[in-house]
Amino acid sequence: MSVWHTEANSLRVVPLKKAKQENSSVKTLFFDDELCRKAVPGQFIMIWIPGLDEIPMSISYTFPQGASVSVEKVGPATEALHALRAGDLIGIRGPFGNGFRLMKKGSVLIVGGGTGLIPLTFLGEKLAKLGVKITFMAGAKTKEKLLFTDKIGLLARKNRGKMIVTTDDGSCGIRCLVTDAAEELLVKEKFDMIYACGPEPMMYKMLSLAEKHNVAFQASLERLMRCAMGICGSCMLGKFRVCVDGPVFTKAQLRAVKDEFGRFKLNFNGKRLKI
Ligand SMILES: Cc1cc2nc3c(=O)[nH]c(=O)nc-3n(C[C@H](O)[C@H](O)[C@H](O)COP(=O)(O)OP(=O)(O)OC[C@H]3O[C@@H](n4cnc5c(N)ncnc54)[C@H](O)[C@@H]3O)c2cc1C
Ligand code: FES
Repeated sequence: MSVWHTEANSLRVVPLKKAKQENSSVKTLFFDDELCRKAVPGQFIMIWIPGLDEIPMSISYTFPQGASVSVEKVGPATEALHALRAGDLIGIRGPFGNGFRLMKKGSVLIVGGGTGLIPLTFLGEKLAKLGVKITFMAGAKTKEKLLFTDKIGLLARKNRGKMIVTTDDGSCGIRCLVTDAAEELLVKEKFDMIYACGPEPMMYKMLSLAEKHNVAFQASLERLMRCAMGICGSCMLGKFRVCVDGPVFTKAQLRAVKDEFGRFKLNFNGKRLKI
């Protein structure tokens, strides 16, 4: 059998169980699936919208029968997903990729921006159950774009941790970039791990801060994805294929591709573009 004929790569057609509006532009879609119910934070699936596209989405939650994805409406495929109702069908492949390595104890800093909060909230829920102390920094452009702050507040408080909210326009929490608040905090507090997900310049800044303060670091990256199984090359980041080597990378891995990370990505024609 060839390497890409795996169980995860088989296309399953599943009905939507439920759709839930999370904020002005993000909807969570729930579905049953035997493989996705076992997904770990940071893993993603490919969702096929017949006649339109197949796009990558992080798993945002798992439950005994299945999982969910939380989709921001940004273009044709995500608009089509937002229009779906309970009972409508989607095609799924996955889960794919390496998820976050979970700390079993200690104190962690989670820093998320925009839709980066989607896999990080799932991660936070798992870490809270393990008893890890979590300082969760949730950033967005505006209050309307913030995600999951009720859930994040609860999970952070569980083990004497805290949530810090930032918005670029000051409509909620501290008015600053989430990285500025993280920079201030890292001078005062010690952490065993930093987890990050969000726009790439934000993750690049967090990598620099993790290096400066000598803290272990993991970040979940996005690149264009087509096959999701290491064949097509559309997700290359230097020597890595983000779909199979990532999407979660460590400090050492990102240091090895420092000329590419935060600087360049491929477009759909394979052309290298500045980020
Ligand atoms: C590993 C991974 C996890 C992701 N998780 C989430 C998530 O949890 N929630 C969420 O809302 N979004 C997530 N995304 C981004 C999501 O895939 C894009 O927003 C979506 O593909 C846009 O499709 P569209 O047709 O609506 O918009 P388009 O107008 O076609 O695209 C808008 C932008 O989305 C990106 N995009 C489009 N197609 C792809 C593709 N095949 N692969 C990667 N990026 C693409 C490009 O940057 C493009 O400029 C994730 C992406 C990756 C790579
Ligand atoms: S998406 Fe094809 S190699 Fe990664």
